[in-house]
Amino acid sequence: MSPFRITRILPEDATDAALRADVLAGLTGSPRTLPPKWFYDARGSELFEEITALPEYYPTRAEREILAARSGEIAAASGARTLVELGSGSSEKTRYLLDALTGLGAYVPVDVSESALEGAGRAIATERPGLEVHALIADFTAALELPDTPGPRLLAFLGGTVGNLLPAERSAFLTSVRAALAPGDTLLLGTDLVKDEAVLVRAYDDAAGVTAAFDKNVLAVINRELDADFDLAAFDHVARWDPDREWIEMRLRSRTAQTVKVQSLDLAVDFAAGEELRTEVSAKFREPGVRAELAAAGLDLVHWWTDPQGRFALSLSTVR
Ligand code: SAH
Ligand code: TRP
Repeated sequence: MSPFRITRILPEDATDAALRADVLAGLTGSPRTLPPKWFYDARGSELFEEITALPEYYPTRAEREILAARSGEIAAASGARTLVELGSGSSEKTRYLLDALTGLGAYVPVDVSESALEGAGRAIATERPGLEVHALIADFTAALELPDTPGPRLLAFLGGTVGNLLPAERSAFLTSVRAALAPGDTLLLGTDLVKDEAVLVRAYDDAAGVTAAFDKNVLAVINRELDADFDLAAFDHVARWDPDREWIEMRLRSRTAQTVKVQSLDLAVDFAAGEELRTEVSAKFREPGVRAELAAAGLDLVHWWTDPQGRFALSLSTVR
């Protein structure tokens, strides 16, 4: 078994302070919102893994098809000795890259979910003797402090997670990614593509209700961490396509007029019947838009690969 290290960049008390600030701002603002990173406690990470296996949720399968077909080309183009992965989760699709990158010495998975990192990071270290696995519990929207491992680096951000950032957050994020890379490093970015509305909505509102349970899990996190009394059964999960902004919006809709108390914040929040709380957006992309956003951050898109059905894309960019 090769070395496995896990480093907490996010201190536990900072997480608590950040959660408090986010929940206070989000629940008192108009419209009400909650930031998506709080979905992923151990239960949330488990529910997301269930989502990836749903018949309606095509992005994981489409991205896996691309990785299966293109990992050799990605490895040759990057020549990476270190693979950094943001929002690595289960690291399941990453195995295609780990297999193809023959000169790889270090794998650095970065996630807010400690349980996901413990499970996936340890398993990969056990399976791959000679590969140093250095997991980071960190928020990828903050400045990236990467361990001192050999270059060139390939920084992978899969799953279409970049679409969960709002446009201004996305441009700040890409700029910070660019700042963390050196000449010769590359970025591998997974982006879900604009397609038929019905297909998109089904992917975020499945028949078995797993996505609804995932969406409501953020309320369970707030109940537990901030001593709140959200009744999960009193909210309905809603997924809606916004054709102007080209994103799916996830919301929780209050079934009745109700007041929710958040003890730790000394806060009472009134919801009208039918009032909605936005929990997440998932932006869908087109090639020119992705190219332009990368270029604005100083990154040059050099490869664009899609699955045969054209549902999802992986792009490889170099540092300008
Ligand atoms: N890459 C995996 C998982 C995608 S789900 C896949 O493609 O299937 C999104 C992942 O990003 C989750 O594991 C979640 O815990 C993590 N995540 C979400 N917001 C984050 C943030 N701000 N900083 C670090 N990780 C985050
Ligand atoms: N990155 C995933 C996506 O945008 C996250 C996700 C999938 C998600 N299903 C969800 C987030 C449902 C909130 C609710 O596809």
